Amino acid sequence: MWTRPRRWRAPRWNCPEWSLTESEHWAEKLEILPVEGLPEFRPGDDLTGAIAAAARWLRSGDVVVVTSKVVSKIEGRLMRVPTDPEERDAARRKLVEQEAVRVLARFNRTLITQNRIGIVQAASGVDGSNVEGNEIALLPTDPDASALALRNGLRERLGVEVAVVITDTMGRAWRVGQTDAAIGSSGLKVLHSYEGAVDKQGNELLVTEIAVADEIAAAADLVKGKLRATPVAVVRGMSLVDDGSTARNLVRPVEEDLFRLGANEAIAQGRREAVPARRSVRSFSDEPVDPAALRRAVGSALTAPAPHHTHPVRFVWLRDHGLRTKLLEAMREAWRADLRGDEFTGEQIAKRVSRGDILFTAPEVVLPFLVPDGAHTYPDERRNDCERTMFTVAGGAAVQGLLVALAAEELGSCWIGSTIFAADPVREVLGLDASWQPLGAVAIGHPAVAPGPRGEPFGEGLVEL
Ligand SMILES: Cc1cc2nc3c(=O)[nH]c(=O)nc-3n(C[C@H](O)[C@H](O)[C@H](O)COP(=O)(O)O)c2cc1C
Repeated sequence: MWTRPRRWRAPRWNCPEWSLTESEHWAEKLEILPVEGLPEFRPGDDLTGAIAAAARWLRSGDVVVVTSKVVSKIEGRLMRVPTDPEERDAARRKLVEQEAVRVLARFNRTLITQNRIGIVQAASGVDGSNVEGNEIALLPTDPDASALALRNGLRERLGVEVAVVITDTMGRAWRVGQTDAAIGSSGLKVLHSYEGAVDKQGNELLVTEIAVADEIAAAADLVKGKLRATPVAVVRGMSLVDDGSTARNLVRPVEEDLFRLGANEAIAQGRREAVPARRSVRSFSDEPVDPAALRRAVGSALTAPAPHHTHPVRFVWLRDHGLRTKLLEAMREAWRADLRGDEFTGEQIAKRVSRGDILFTAPEVVLPFLVPDGAHTYPDERRNDCERTMFTVAGGAAVQGLLVALAAEELGSCWIGSTIFAADPVREVLGLDASWQPLGAVAIGHPAVAPGPRGEPFGEGLVEL
């Protein structure tokens, strides 16, 4: 089995003459010859015989390039569908889903999928062009095997040692327009690595790896065309090397794929992970927080649900560091007074109070408040209590929203409860009305270390009755 040489380093091709003769990817000149006079193919037809008859002029070393559509036809990969345009389209869509092992992106009517042979392309390669009105073509099931069979057949019939490339037309991410690419091949080295080679200017080529089979496929399409019913062309002039690789080796392994998730998959994963990605981060780096990111997060948080269509949450962003210190000192003093009342020793008090340091040192601090304007008043205290609880939980929802939105901006945060216990000093220092109820403080910054993974998701938290 062919394996991609990972650490293999090519010899240094710094001698121009040597590089021209040794580099099998290079060809002095090429001819691209259409194979004319082929019939319209139907299931069970002898493609090898037809090509052998129409291209008696084939020579060893030629590359026979075949449009996958004719391979699909002779291999019976034509599906019967209704002729009514709407019904035909519905059937086509069904086939696209059926042929897909993954849906990577959906854009209006376009579906980008990965099919069973690993190829990522629009509509799983399912195609209604160049077939009868009541048919739709699926890609060949194993185009490498089809290429090998054709190559063996041509050797048998014409006594020539050719390579075969089976092509399909594909779009490219980030590039407008489509080109033909190799989806099956036999008898040629599909990739040519220049790793370790040195160009004329003395620069070492570190990553250049040419998809030779794709280049051949695209070149052949220049004479095949899409409308001229010329499904086969011959590329003559390549110096062929057969290293056992096939078009399957052109499918980028998932672990090397920077874009392994399609747009839809990435969005779905982002949504799924948005809530658990939030962790309490208590240690921050010096990297400043982008004010726009913080504002976006606050904007998202303010979309939290609230009773009676009210907007009872305010976020106070303490941008003035002098004011922040003044506030925290006042809160600290109030805390000390509480602890003295609890009869803690001076040492115990100092130890406890030092836990609030995070709010002094965090790059940014945002204080959430509940301002329950619009809360209803009832004649009895029970319902008034319930109303207060209802607004408090709405405040909690908004703060959690802020933490999640910050995490989505890759900002760490920790919700610190302390302002809840020092409501009067907080309101006094910040000059706020008595109706503003502190809901804690949120320390914000870039995490000093990446937060660890979460454990078991439910614990005793989910009770299903
Ligand atoms: C209302 C509230 C107050 C909190 N106060 C503090 C605090 O004063 N100090 C602190 O370190 N963490 C505080 N936390 C964070 C919890 O300790 C934290 O959520 C818990 O350890 C779970 O960790 P996780 O957030 O990473 O899931 C508070 C959380 C809430 C919801």
